[in-house]
Order: sequence, then structure tokens, then C-alpha cells
Amino acid sequence: MRSPKFVVPVIALLVAACGAPAAGQQVKQPESALVGVTMPTTTSQRWLSDGENIKRDLESRGHKVDLQYAENDVATQIKQVQGQISAGAKLLIIASVDGSALTQPLLMAAEAGIPVIAYDRLLRGSPNVDFYATFENFRVGIYQAESLLTGLGLRNPDGSPGPAPGPFNIELFAGSADDNNSAFFFNGAMSALKPYIDEKKLVVRSGQTEFQAVTTLRWDGETARKRMDEILTTAYRRIKVNGVLSPYDGISLGILASLKANGYGPAYPVVTGQDAEVDSVKSIIAGEQYSTIYKDTRELATATASMAEAVLKGRTPPQLNNLNDYENGVKIVPAFLLNPVSVDKSNYHKVLVESGYYTDEQLR
Ligand code: BGC
Repeated sequence: MRSPKFVVPVIALLVAACGAPAAGQQVKQPESALVGVTMPTTTSQRWLSDGENIKRDLESRGHKVDLQYAENDVATQIKQVQGQISAGAKLLIIASVDGSALTQPLLMAAEAGIPVIAYDRLLRGSPNVDFYATFENFRVGIYQAESLLTGLGLRNPDGSPGPAPGPFNIELFAGSADDNNSAFFFNGAMSALKPYIDEKKLVVRSGQTEFQAVTTLRWDGETARKRMDEILTTAYRRIKVNGVLSPYDGISLGILASLKANGYGPAYPVVTGQDAEVDSVKSIIAGEQYSTIYKDTRELATATASMAEAVLKGRTPPQLNNLNDYENGVKIVPAFLLNPVSVDKSNYHKVLVESGYYTDEQLR
């Protein structure tokens, strides 16, 4: 049996012993607590914003935050989490580099009674994960596939059949195999692409259609560029590729660099993405990358900070809205899921600028 993980303030115990608080009686706010936040890398803009936003929000609630970035190194992240436990953290928020590599520090946390919230990426293979905050990851994949189909003309934006008969040549990329999200994105995308592949309206000339064959370790753009180079030189000597399913903007830019080096442009195949990173939004505006998926990480950070606050008070976070889909190999982790938004040249201004996520200047 693992030790109890919730730090229940004394007042809550008293309330439990004496029944509900009398009208007008205040439930005590948690004392200022140290919260350990670990993020995978500073090389991607989204994780920088996620970390800063969570920190700011928790600090505004009076907590102290130790924010660490592991630069995509598993051993570094293990040390960082262990260090936060030793420093007396009362709660851990973890966006993992490798979702299955933290079972040891998670056990340490459980033994010290420290609750854990998996942030964006599910922590796998451990019972010692209390909650999960993320986006509708399967839907992200569906949106990526739908924008690929729309860009090719096989589908209209309203979902009706598009004007183009096909067939089109496409290639598939997935994220890092050690990130639980990658399979969600890929499976979501394939659920929308498979009927077209079965009807031969879409053809994957490389023959690489299985998840394991198309993953990109650590979501690295350079790794994706090399794989695209290889595919172009082996499968596309005499024909053109028309579209590429890309799961993340950093990978999309790697794919576009390969396409440019191999003679494509000024018109490019339809390349998808994710995260609405500045360079990719600029690329969309310039007519190179076709689309991205916007996930308002400000909202995810705020929701996670509120969840953290509830957990520090010994309560179940009221935000939870999915109790079924995130099985981590040991348990189903109760999750809070936010909605992603598909973005292309037609709606980037409304979605990204008018919402205040970016200014026009940032996208110039
Ligand atoms: C996140 C994506 C991100 C990717 C690469 C995934 O776990 O959900 O938003 O694009 O990691 O950093």
C-alpha cells in the first residue's frame, strides 16, 4: 500500500471530525507551499510559456515554485524531481521527457506523501500519479488529418467531400515514441486518413504507415528533416509528395527544410503541425506550412494551477472531466482535458491574434 498522498490541512481534519462547516465559517486556505514544476525542454516555445504561466499563477496564489527544465534528458529530469522532493515540495507538476522513466522518483514522492499532477504528457507505468491535465489529444490528431485532407482538396472545410478526386501521395510522421501523446495524435489522425488510404485516394509511397516506423525521437526537427530526405530520395525520385502529416511545428519546419533542399517550392505540399509556434505561424502566413493546432497553454497552465490548489487543500480537483481514457499501464488517471483548435491561413488572425495569444508584430 502506498502512503496517503494528500496533505490534509489540520482544519480540514477538524471539519471532517465535526461535520460540514457552519454557515459563514471559512475553510482555511492552504499555507504557502513549495511546488516542484518540471518541464521537458527550453528548445520549444510552448514549454517555456507553460512553465512561466504555471509559475506565475501559483506564485500569485502565494506559493513558491521551483521550475526546472530537463533539456530532453531523462537522467536530468529524474534528478530534478528527486531534488524537489528532498527540498520539501508539497506537490509536483511534471511534463515528462519520457513518460515511463520516472517510476522511481514517483515512488519516492508517494512515500513522502507528495501528490503528483502529470502535465500535458501522461506519466506511465506508475500508480503514483494522481491527476492529469492535458488537451483532447485524439482530437488533435483528427484535426491534423482533417486539415491535411482539406488542404489537398479531398474534403471541404465543412466536412463534405472536396473537389479533388485524388489520388495524392502523402507521408506520415509521428512524435516521440516515449511520449504517451504521440500515439493519441497518430491514432486520431489515422482514424480520419485510413478510409482514404483504403480507397487509394491517399497513397503512402514509402510504405511507412505503422506508428513504430514513423516516430521521431524527442520530437526533433533535425531527425525529421533527415527522415524526409531519405524518403524523398528513395520513394519520390520521379513523382512528387503532395502532403505530409506532421504532429508538431518543430517537425514541420524540419520537413519543410528537407522539401526545400529537394527542389520543392514556391508551392509546397500540405504540411500540418501543432502548437502554433511563432515560426510556424509565420510559415503559414508565408504560404509554406499549411496548418497547425493551437492549444491555449495559458488555459492549461491556469487550470493546472487551480487543480494544484485543490489538491494542496486535500480536495479532488473539480475540473476533472475525463475519468476513462487515460490508462497509464497501472491505473486510469483522472484527467482534465481542454479543446484544441485547428488553425490555417484562413483563421490564424481571428484565433491567435484577436485572442491576444500573439500580437501582429510577433508574427511579422
Ligand atoms: C505536446 C505537444 C508538443 C509535443 C512536442 C507533446 O507532448 O502535447 O503539444 O508539440 O509534445 O513538444
